Amino acid sequence: MNVHISQTPVHNAMKKSLRPPALVLSLCVTTSAFAADPIDYPDGYRQWTHVKSMTIQPGHPLENPFLGIHHIYANRKALAGLKAGRYEDGASFVFDQLAYESRDKASIEGARVLLGVMVKDRARFPATGGWGYEGWAGDSRTERLVSDGGVSCHGCHSQMRDRDFVFTQWRR
Ligand code: HEC
Repeated sequence: MNVHISQTPVHNAMKKSLRPPALVLSLCVTTSAFAADPIDYPDGYRQWTHVKSMTIQPGHPLENPFLGIHHIYANRKALAGLKAGRYEDGASFVFDQLAYESRDKASIEGARVLLGVMVKDRARFPATGGWGYEGWAGDSRTERLVSDGGVSCHGCHSQMRDRDFVFTQWRR
């Protein structure tokens, strides 16, 4: 089967509201104005449910900074939310992005580029749809990537308002 990415609804949604300059800016600044109450690194996420993977190739509108293979993981509450379309506090997703290398007609995982996280907590993150957004550079657990309280992350995720701001959908 050969499903081309440009035909997926997600890709069309991505094309509609790309704001690469804002994103790049927010990903480059590592000092956080929100450091007083930082989002925790999602220890143990490799034991969560792997929901899907995707490869972003050179020339894709999101190649900067999302070039590479990413895997999406959901914790138990996020998994329930994927099926319901709404999320309880405590639901969390990880976006685990790795470089890829093309070798012998295969795409192979390379080094980790970044780790993104979304955590649902309505009381804590009222300005961004009840979701907290954070990212860490490469394998670092201290070098944070989100400096604007998640506003630019949420700007793009807002197009998924009808699915509680989550792009990923469950497949069997
Ligand atoms: C330009 C649009 C855009 C921006 C900006 C963006 N994302 Fe996303 N994000 C996506 C898309 C599209 C997906 C779904 C990818 C897939 O289907 O494999 C996604 C998926 C995710 C997921 C998995 C849950 C879900 O919604 O599918 C997490 C976690 C995530 N992003 C975190 C972040 C964080 C943290 C930031 C800010 C540093 C951010 N995102 C900025 C478009 C964006």
